[in-house]
Amino acid sequence: MKVLGIAGSPRRGSNTDTLLDEVMKGAASKGAETKTIVINKLDISPCQHCDACLEEGECAIKDDMQDIYKEVEQADVIVLASPIQFMGVTAPMKAFIDRFQSRWARKYVLKIPPLGDERKRKGLFVSVGGRKIKDLFEPALVTIKTLFRILNIDYAGELVFQGIDEKGAIRQHPDALKQAFLAGQKLVDE
Ligand SMILES: Cc1cc2nc3c(=O)[nH]c(=O)nc-3n(C[C@H](O)[C@H](O)[C@H](O)COP(=O)(O)O)c2cc1C
Repeated sequence: MKVLGIAGSPRRGSNTDTLLDEVMKGAASKGAETKTIVINKLDISPCQHCDACLEEGECAIKDDMQDIYKEVEQADVIVLASPIQFMGVTAPMKAFIDRFQSRWARKYVLKIPPLGDERKRKGLFVSVGGRKIKDLFEPALVTIKTLFRILNIDYAGELVFQGIDEKGAIRQHPDALKQAFLAGQKLVDE
């Protein structure tokens, strides 16, 4: 089983990076092949809404997303990790997500599988937010679940923690890292 992690925080060694690492360690402990892509410094243009994808289901922008599409297609499990910024996912994560418009076109316009085959895939969302407010993760969850639904990726749930702001704060949480490790194991077991 291949588990692909997408790290969406702009800072390295971040809270979501730490959680994602634990999820991947948990998955690896159950025999999964794991790979994490840090998207912040990659060349991922925002979608230009050129509509070229409506013809062939391919994105016309030739940047780092072309390799990432292949990685997503080869994965059985996709773990998206992004902190909350202005109540949504980070800008790099949103650019990554919007570039799946080409896969939306495959599914809804061209009527072909969005990820090339009909294999069962699962998706997990990992997030933290600095504030402690009701429904902190709801706007991001709508975006993430929409992506998974369009890509025919079964939603495996979310692992989210509020009130985590300073870099490294997640390490002070009593059991967040353990929860992340177990979530990684569960992704492979179920
Ligand atoms: C530009 C920016 C916007 C943010 N917006 C929010 C927000 O809307 N709600 C919130 O709870 N935290 C917000 N935060 C705080 C981050 O979610 C928090 O610091 C988090 O721990 C960062 O995670 P990371 O270490 O994985 O990058 C924001 C931080 C930044 C830099």
